[in-house]
Amino acid sequence: MDINSIESVSLEGKRVLLRADLDVPLLNGEVSDDLRLVASLETLKYILKQTKTVVIFGHLGRPEGGDKKFSLINVAKWYAKELNGDLKKAEIEGLSGWEILPGLVLLENLRFYKEEEGNDEEFSKKLALLADIYVNDAFASSHRAHASIAGVPKYLPHFAGFRLLREVEVLSKVSREPKRPLAIVIGGAKIETKLPLVEKMHRFADYVLVGGEIAENDKILIKVQHEKITGKKSIVLVADLNESKKDITQKSSENFSSVFSNCETIIWNGPMGQVENENYQKGTEILAEGIISSNAYTVVGGGDTLGFLKNKNLLSKFSFVSMGGGAMLEFLAGEKLPGLEALR
Ligand code: 3PG
Repeated sequence: MDINSIESVSLEGKRVLLRADLDVPLLNGEVSDDLRLVASLETLKYILKQTKTVVIFGHLGRPEGGDKKFSLINVAKWYAKELNGDLKKAEIEGLSGWEILPGLVLLENLRFYKEEEGNDEEFSKKLALLADIYVNDAFASSHRAHASIAGVPKYLPHFAGFRLLREVEVLSKVSREPKRPLAIVIGGAKIETKLPLVEKMHRFADYVLVGGEIAENDKILIKVQHEKITGKKSIVLVADLNESKKDITQKSSENFSSVFSNCETIIWNGPMGQVENENYQKGTEILAEGIISSNAYTVVGGGDTLGFLKNKNLLSKFSFVSMGGGAMLEFLAGEKLPGLEALR
């Protein structure tokens, strides 16, 4: 692989900037699903064995105008508990955050600064000044050309963390030589991210199955786009929503599941309904059962989907669990991810 692993550099006496996937679901302010944080620990603990001076940074949600409900304070508390630290407010070079252990700081949500999403050069340089080495372990954010992903590595020696490398290794294999027929299921919200991906999947997948909010809003558009594509391989199925408009119909879930029985590979991102409410979980549940009971190699990714499956104790039934949602789909569609390009 043409990305340098963190194992290829000595971190002794060095200051390290670690970009991690901190974008986790919160419920009443608490971290309600910590899978992405747990996934960051292997790299973090590896770094801490060699140096105590570490800055973790990342984003949470899509805060409008610095809305404080997107503060990373609860993520900082999670790390403090996990590492037996004593949380204190901290400020480095004008950037606020929390000290978790002596020398280990987690910065406040980078999306509170407009320069992060603008991939601002000065902001990237300012962040780069905090360390001697940059490590990206945030696969789920690597499809964003933001400062912490694509900007900072321009100014520091850069390396990949263990989780990111594992994602690239497994997903490369799936995208290069998938066993067919291959079905891809796309649901969830984030319509502006997902819609272009549905289109890109037609050259990769044999079946593209679409549910969730995107199916409700863009059913006709998806079908029209599909008609227009030349050289496509795929059959597209778009779910119907039930009366509540917050879940897909049982019939649609069952139709999807009948496709799975003859698939060799199934990739899934995004719930079929508003699963944070128990009343709208049925479609996603039937779909999950359909995927699990197939004989296919199964890949699932994305924050909300993983949170749902974890609550239902179904995660271990999948062949590979990716931390990426949009990033996983972009990668499989053959797109260049800015975060990976920046590490090359
Ligand atoms: C994700 O959850 O997919 C990543 O954190 C990226 O989030 P974004 O779609 O808000 O950029």
